[in-house]
Amino acid sequence: EKDLYILGIESSCDETAASVVKNGTEIISNVVASQIESHKRFGGVVPEIASRHHVEQVTIVLEEALKQANLEPKDLDGVCVTEGPGLVGALLIGINAAKAFAFANNLPLVGVHHIAGHIYANQLMQPMEFPLLALVVSGGHTELVLMKEHGSFELIGETRDDAAGEAYDKVARVLSIPYPGGPHIDRMAHESDGAIKFPRVWLEKDSYDFSFSGLKSAVINYQHNAVQRGEEINPHHIAKGFQDSVVEVLTAKTLRAAREFNVKQVIAAGGVSANKGLRTSLEATFKEEGIPFHVPPLKLCTDNGAMIAAAGSEMYKAGVCSDLSLNGRPGMEL
Ligand code: KG4
Ligand code: ZN
Repeated sequence: EKDLYILGIESSCDETAASVVKNGTEIISNVVASQIESHKRFGGVVPEIASRHHVEQVTIVLEEALKQANLEPKDLDGVCVTEGPGLVGALLIGINAAKAFAFANNLPLVGVHHIAGHIYANQLMQPMEFPLLALVVSGGHTELVLMKEHGSFELIGETRDDAAGEAYDKVARVLSIPYPGGPHIDRMAHESDGAIKFPRVWLEKDSYDFSFSGLKSAVINYQHNAVQRGEEINPHHIAKGFQDSVVEVLTAKTLRAAREFNVKQVIAAGGVSANKGLRTSLEATFKEEGIPFHVPPLKLCTDNGAMIAAAGSEMYKAGVCSDLSLNGRPGMEL
């Protein structure tokens, strides 16, 4: 059978990214232009600034991905692009670049769900085994997704308020840690010699949903009260206490779902799956449980084009195709 070469483009938030993936499993090139430096001083992603950077970067990144792959447009079989969810202005830049490229080179176009992309980042490491349970944790998402086959996504639990990454970034802000706070809190938790005990939010006994805004408030209140009393706070102990709570709840609910649905594989995906504490906890838990657990290397946990190409390759093989009316869908459902 002929090899499949798919170009993947991602621009839903603050990374402009393009990649060529072979057969949905093998990275041939992977180029990511991060805008983090430009958003840092605002403490979060500023949509208008994101769009402007995407406009500047998208052609450069796309050409670089082809160059590093040593391929010409005619060698490709299709173009995949993040259709949603995300910032609408940011999405549209990637989508319009993908449309122009597909039209000019007479290639099929496939719109991909961003979270499907995060999940399929795992396929760049090892084959998927179904039924599969995915814990998706990013700046915008905290979801437990059950997959019985390629392209089928059953949402069994999700956050009712803040996403895990959002909670990390907000807690970081309270501790005057630069954006994005997740990696800093992770490092501080790792270095800490103690922990503040914060609550665990389990919701109803049988629920797979999550809630992190109460925990975030508990951290803010703790910090506020300490300052009012003129007490010294230890940011490392706060970071560790916060991370312990997040990791314990994420791990316990993932384990319970893995048992209930009798899955053959558990994977983690999204920016927060780069978290050392979470990775260690999930690895140990599923090793003991005897269920294979995988999480992609750090570079494939955060936003990139390869994950979009991987998910899009499966869609392409299944005959899914978009046309030039493809539009950004900021609130797109999985
Ligand atoms: O998937 P991603 O790159 O973008 C979204 O689609 O949201 O995730 C970004 C999020 C940010 O909230 C960031 O703070 C968080 O992932 N993050 C982490 C770590 N690395 C990135 N959170 C906790 N620990 C980390 N090591
Ligand atoms: Zn993402």
